[in-house]
Amino acid sequence: MEIKNATFVVSNTDVQKCPEGIRPEYAFIGRSNVGKSSLINMLTQRKGLAMTSQKPGKTQLINHFLINETWYLVDLPGYGYARRGKEGRERIRRIIEDYILEREQLANLFVLLDCRHEPQQIDLEFMEWLGENSIPFSIIFTKTDKLTRTHLQENLKVYQTQLLETWEELPPIFFSSAEKKEGREEILGYIEEVNARFLK
Ligand code: GTP
Ligand code: MG
Repeated sequence: MEIKNATFVVSNTDVQKCPEGIRPEYAFIGRSNVGKSSLINMLTQRKGLAMTSQKPGKTQLINHFLINETWYLVDLPGYGYARRGKEGRERIRRIIEDYILEREQLANLFVLLDCRHEPQQIDLEFMEWLGENSIPFSIIFTKTDKLTRTHLQENLKVYQTQLLETWEELPPIFFSSAEKKEGREEILGYIEEVNARFLK
């Protein structure tokens, strides 16, 4: 799919203030620093569209980007950032949860996982919570440039085995590198497929 235009629309902390209308949207979630904002820039080929940082905790709001005037990419704050403190973490958790549970336009949530790490409790629990609430999601393993192909396959196997302990079926799984611009076609192709169902 070609991205003809990508524009920032609005940032806020309140799901009620997100854009009106019935356009489908695709949001990116995961631990702070996993590469959500970088992936949005890579997909849209617009450096600096979503703000990124080497320090975790950069994105603090729900950010809507309108794509080809028909659908949205949504950058969300990361979860689990210890240095935010208990209150800060709680505030972010509420923003994320309200958005996910109340946003009817959410066509698919991409859960980002750093491909270098073994399965983390916080991510597994988050995906279980999505399942309990019937939220459609897919997985993207990020930063694949940091691993060899063999190591990546090994980590994927470990993750799949772990997921199959809870899930009967695996969600769609993608790989990305914002650094090497990998995964773009596959992820945009998937969005196009889901869009076709929503925009009928
Ligand atoms: P928060 O907004 O804090 O939740 O983080 P985020 O998930 O949006 O992460 P962000 O995109 O800001 O990236 C965090 C850091 O990881 C930055 O230093 C990025 O340059 C780096 N990074 C992101 N994606 C990749 C990748 O694919 N490969 C490599 N090598 N680095 C990446
Ligand atoms: Mg971010």
